Amino acid sequence: MKYIIKSALFVMFLLNITNANSLEQKALTTGDSVFKAYCWGCHHQTSVAFGPSFEDIANKRTVGEIQGHIVSPKSTYKQLGHKRSVMPAFGETLSQKELDLITNFILSFKKGN
Ligand code: HEC
Repeated sequence: MKYIIKSALFVMFLLNITNANSLEQKALTTGDSVFKAYCWGCHHQTSVAFGPSFEDIANKRTVGEIQGHIVSPKSTYKQLGHKRSVMPAFGETLSQKELDLITNFILSFKKGN
């Protein structure tokens, strides 16, 4: 019985995510929607995925370092201490507004925020 309730809750949770996703992706007007559209496959908010977590990034980088890397990772990865760069560049993909939104989203995970 417990298992059934848990499974049902999990399915509801998944439906909720996909719903929110499809609604938000039409207009990228929040940091969260930029995140889900372009970054989520490789970065998670607080845990390490393919790339570092946003919490980790927020705790050690400035706005300039964050935006520089998003726009052109090949020019900044060494400076940030990475041996290689596999992250795609988003300089052509994101508008300045979207760049600001995702930067604020990343910084919102700073410890103590
Ligand atoms: C294909 C996987 C991938 C995608 C998609 C991706 N990243 Fe990354 N990201 C990485 C990896 C791996 C690194 C480590 C350095 C590198 O490869 O350039 C990284 C590094 C970073 C860094 C610098 C980390 C540091 O050391 O401070 C920032 C900031 C960042 N990513 C933001 C983003 C944002 C914002 C998006 C979405 C717009 C995004 N990334 C999309 C894989 C990805």
